[in-house]
Formats: sequence, C-alpha cells, structure tokens
Amino acid sequence: MALQRAFESARPERSRLFRDPLARDFLSTPLRVVAELARIPVLGPLVPRLYDLVWPGPRPSAVARTRLIDDSVCAAIRRGIRQVILLGAGFDSRAWRLPEMHNVRVFEVDQPDMQTVKVATLRQLRQLLDHVTFVPVDFEQDDLGSALRGTEMRGDEPSMFVWEGVTNYLTAVAVDRTLREVRAVAAPGTEVVFTYVHQGVLDGSVDFPEARRWVRSVAGVGEAWTFGLLPDRLRAYLATRGLQLMWDISTADAGRTYFEPLRRADQASQLYRVALARVPCPA
Ligand SMILES: C[S@@+](CC[C@H](N)C(=O)[O-])C[C@H]1O[C@@H](n2cnc3c(N)ncnc32)[C@H](O)[C@@H]1O
Repeated sequence: MALQRAFESARPERSRLFRDPLARDFLSTPLRVVAELARIPVLGPLVPRLYDLVWPGPRPSAVARTRLIDDSVCAAIRRGIRQVILLGAGFDSRAWRLPEMHNVRVFEVDQPDMQTVKVATLRQLRQLLDHVTFVPVDFEQDDLGSALRGTEMRGDEPSMFVWEGVTNYLTAVAVDRTLREVRAVAAPGTEVVFTYVHQGVLDGSVDFPEARRWVRSVAGVGEAWTFGLLPDRLRAYLATRGLQLMWDISTADAGRTYFEPLRRADQASQLYRVALARVPCPA
C-alpha cells in the first residue's frame, strides 16, 4: 500500500487523487528505490505502468479506496465527529497528511510489532505523535472493546472507524467479533468505513477477469485472502451486528468517478469494495 501511495504522490498535482508524503519513508530500501524512480521526470510515469503490467489490479483499486476513505473521513469530521479510530492502521498516514485529522483524537489499532516499526519511523522523521494514541490489538485474539475502553476514547460521542485493507486477511470469527465490539463501544451516529473483497473471488464462483493475476499473486506472496462478503448479503450481515449499511461500492465504480474527470485510464477492480455502515440513532 505504501508503494502504491508513493506512486500516486509522484504524479503531478493536477492529476493525482491525493499526496502521501510519508509513504516512501515507510518503504524498505529496494521499494524506496522503485518509488524514487517513479519521481524521475518524463520516464518516472513508466514505473507504475510497468508495475501494473506485472501486477494488474491492485494499484488503481488501492488509490481509489484511499481517496474514497479520505473523503468519507473528512466529511465525517466536517459533520462534527471528533474521534477517528483506524483499525489495522499499518502505514496509514491520514493522521499526519490530512489537515482535518490534526484537531481530532486519533486512535491507531494494530498488532504491536507493526506499531513499533511505524512509531520508530515517525520519530526519525520528527513527526508529531501527540494527537495519536497507539492501541495494540490482535483482532484474532484480543478484545478490541476492552482495549479501546482503556484509552481516552469517549464512548458517549460518535466516532469514525476506518478498517481499510484488513478484513480480507482475517478469519470470519475475527471480523464478526470486531464488528460486534465496535458496535458495543461506539455511540449512536458512529460510522464505520471498511473494505472487503467479494466472496466470489475466494471460492471461484465469480470471475473477475481484470484481476485474475492479482488473485493468484496475493496467494503466491503468502498473503492469501481468507475472508470475503457477498455484496447482496452485506446489508443483512451488518444488520445482524447492529449496524446499518449506508453505501457499498466497488473500487471500479468509485475509481471511475475519480479517474475519469482527470482523464486517467486507470481501471480499478470490481472485486475490491468499500462500504460505510452507521450505528443507528435510537428512534
Ligand atoms: C494491507 S495492511 C493495510 C494497512 C492500512 N489500513 C492501509 O490501508 O494502508 C493490513 C493491516 O492489517 C493489520 N492486521 C492484519 N491482521 C491483523 C490482526 N489479526 N490484528 C490486528 N491487525 C492486523 C496489519 O498489521 C496491517 O497493518
């Protein structure tokens, strides 16, 4: 994800969906070299194109989902939400790159090893850390609700939860438990924006021709997807967990609304989706 965000940040301002100045600092040395090559005038744009040829699919989907979630988070903050919880935050840099995030309470939840690497990198870069609380949680083993209740997160105020690029790596039990814990800890009016992959890609029941190689390659690098959902059943799945579906869109459709006005030919995939759910307010 950091490489794909670094590629996007290397584009000229007039044609990029966002700029993530920290993305390349999170990369290993070989990938940082690739990201630097993408910044070279004239020839640089060939680097992401080559990447897409070798690994078609993930980059446009990643870029579209990042922008869509940026827009959702900023809209929630504009509506008055004052706390944002990033679940499986990884190298998400929204707390630093989005000015809207500077005046809200931010909680980053992830496995402790990931947080150690991220905090060390941010310290080296002399980034402010005061507005962010790091909450170590393993969704497969730990109780998210207790972990959040042990912080200064306010259970009586609506929040924005972001769960980007994570559910597809978890078990069904962990996804279910995490959503139920979010519901239990969150005030009415809370929003949860999350990504998921179409379940048909896991069992082979739906073919996504634009993404065949992508699907094979995630398994090849030991990051096989383990969990997906059926868009047709998402509303009912969330309702069972006390959440109301507000919208659900493929990155292909979201990408079109972002890329086409910029005259970009990037094609995100139908298999990767973004949805937003809300904790209903009492009638
Ligand atoms: C593909 S990365 C996405 C990171 C970030 N949300 C983004 O979009 O850039 C997946 C993240 O989920 C975290 N993750 C995976 N399994 C987890 C688990 N069982 N508990 C907590 N975090 C987990 C990983 O550590 C990693 O940071």
